[in-house]
Amino acid sequence: MKLAKSLPAVAAAFLSTASATRNNEQTVLFGGEEAVLAPINIAIIGAGAAGASSAYHLAQFAAETNLPVNITVFERNEYIGGRSTTVDAYDNPAFPVELGASIFVELNSILVDAVKAFNLSTGAFRSANEDIPGASLAVWDGSAFVVQQNSAGGWWDVAKLLWKYGWAPYTTMKLMRSTTGSFRKMYDAPVFPFASLTQAVEDVGLLSVVSATGEQYMLENGIKGDFGHDIVQASTRVNYAQNLKHIHGLEAMVCMAAEGAMSVEGGNWQIFYNMIAAAQATTLLGTQVTSMERKGDSYTVSFHSSAEDSEPSVQSALPAGKGDALPMGNETNITAAFSSQQFDAVILAAPLQFANLTLPPAPVHTPDEVPYVHLHVTLLTTPHLLSPAFFNLPASAPAPKVVLTTLPASEDPQPGPKSCGSPAFFSISLLRPVTNPHNGQPEYLYKIFSPSAPNATFLARILGFAPSSPLDLDGDAGISGRDISWLYRKVWESYPYEYPRVTFEEICLGEGLWYTSGVEGFISTMETSALMGRNVARLVVDEWVGRRGG
Ligand SMILES: Cc1cc2nc3c(=O)[nH]c(=O)nc-3n(C[C@H](O)[C@H](O)[C@H](O)COP(=O)(O)OP(=O)(O)OC[C@H]3O[C@@H](n4cnc5c(N)ncnc54)[C@H](O)[C@@H]3O)c2cc1C
Ligand SMILES: *[C@@H]1O[C@H](CO)[C@@H](O)[C@H](O)[C@H]1NC(C)=O
Ligand SMILES: *[C@@H]1O[C@H](CO)[C@@H](O)[C@H](O)[C@H]1NC(C)=O
Ligand SMILES: *[C@@H]1O[C@H](CO)[C@@H](O)[C@H](O)[C@H]1NC(C)=O
Ligand SMILES: *[C@@H]1O[C@H](CO)[C@@H](O)[C@H](O)[C@H]1NC(C)=O
Repeated sequence: MKLAKSLPAVAAAFLSTASATRNNEQTVLFGGEEAVLAPINIAIIGAGAAGASSAYHLAQFAAETNLPVNITVFERNEYIGGRSTTVDAYDNPAFPVELGASIFVELNSILVDAVKAFNLSTGAFRSANEDIPGASLAVWDGSAFVVQQNSAGGWWDVAKLLWKYGWAPYTTMKLMRSTTGSFRKMYDAPVFPFASLTQAVEDVGLLSVVSATGEQYMLENGIKGDFGHDIVQASTRVNYAQNLKHIHGLEAMVCMAAEGAMSVEGGNWQIFYNMIAAAQATTLLGTQVTSMERKGDSYTVSFHSSAEDSEPSVQSALPAGKGDALPMGNETNITAAFSSQQFDAVILAAPLQFANLTLPPAPVHTPDEVPYVHLHVTLLTTPHLLSPAFFNLPASAPAPKVVLTTLPASEDPQPGPKSCGSPAFFSISLLRPVTNPHNGQPEYLYKIFSPSAPNATFLARILGFAPSSPLDLDGDAGISGRDISWLYRKVWESYPYEYPRVTFEEICLGEGLWYTSGVEGFISTMETSALMGRNVARLVVDEWVGRRGG
């Protein structure tokens, strides 16, 4: 098991006592006699945005209602954050870079409030690149750029310059504002908390938006011309690897809601780390839940640890590095006996189809398996800027720094794994200039989204270098350490294919069993997962306050 790196044993013991009295027990007075009301034991499976927000809001709502809760978070990874996580460029912790979810926006109030509460700093998106030559953003259709822009202000600034789209940008912005306004109603009474996502979507008036494709929804609202194809589709492709003809209208609008884009310096995962710390939840990292069995009034959760000595690592409430683990309870309590435990309620905060667990007996509602995007994310550092030749530009013209893609006008947009089409990649972005710590050379950090792993030939062409005699870099034959000094490949089940739909998975799958991931077919973002976590927390607390308060 992972031990405290810095916390003395005495402090750890104190912490665990303090949290036990605060969280685990509540002393109540009955006619002068003291009785201890047993806490409600709640398991959360998954320490991503949804699980962390569930824990954070459970602790908060429980405290507000004097409901004693004892929260345990199970996470099979050795880190908190799930699809929100960083890796280190050059394998050097001075260069963290987002591998999954990178951006959230002002409108995302759960994340924004948490950033404030935890005193995290956010960096403005793409601000470090101004001195580098080339357009700041462009959309490539596989043979030509359909649009390029030079200011740093995002789509609505571009739109001003783009006489060619007429009123379409303005109308799209208005439509985006109205849909996000409807979405915001899901945060407050009377819609919040919602026991049914399907009902909530209908109540806020978004059913017609999610049941149409982005293309249909824009047409229905009188938006014609190339704006959808050139700009909105470039956004749906970079954000969801999907085309406007197949993604639903709401996700298309969400992609255009880019105002106030930000990310947490050092990594968005810190939001979720701090949420779990604030909840003072017992957190078992490296611990895979293998089954949740309904027995009588409770669930027996079985799990196993992947840690070397097969004991789960337990993380406590102190801020630290994301992989750091601090013992929370008395160390001797954390033993192999932890392999199965009873809980009053269980929150499954991960897509069931990837959770790799069994749920006997089958709950009343079992979420359907849905197709997810199989996204290849490639991070690399290189001394090269993107090659003008790759983009059919003269050698003297610098290539854009961020290239999104759309399809050639002649190409019918495909759904599913064929969405990418002829451009062969969804986006390539210069994230920031970096100084190679090994040789002090100025280099650039890039991120590529693509439907398959970019090969050496492609990388050499797009970065404009000659594939050299095979020098190995992480097994990537044909790429020289001089041309690509660091390379990291990851395949994510990143988000569902967001096809139009009229119903969503149930939130309560059966008595005492809650599910957050149904929200991903509606909108798949850190914020919506966090909203679902908050919603489930409210439902669980309300149910138990009802039962206990009588
Ligand atoms: C490349 C990429 C880019 C993205 N870009 C953005 C973006 O810019 N902005 C944005 O808002 N969103 C973005 N997203 C989407 C965003 O990452 C997700 O919507 C969100 O993080 C999902 O959070 P979650 O908690 O619901 O699920 P997850 O983050 O997947 O968390 C589930 C957790 O459960 C754990 N788990 C699963 N099964 C078990 C088990 N049996 N036992 C124990 N643990 C288990 C998993 O290990 C995981 O940590 C992006 C996603 C990807 C992959
Ligand atoms: C709280 O949960 C932990 C497991 O995470 C368990 O060991 C402990 O006994 C629980 N406390 C109470 C008072 O139920
Ligand atoms: C918040 O962070 C800033 C800068 O890192 C620091 O100066 C300040 O003391 C912090 N405030 C709190 C309340 O932690
Ligand atoms: C799923 O669980 C089985 C058995 O517990 C294991 O062999 C397999 O590797 C697991 N798969 C994943 C993706 O965790
Ligand atoms: C490399 O990738 C490109 C673009 O995806 C593809 O056209 C080409 O066939 C690949 N080459 C090899 C050798 O796999």
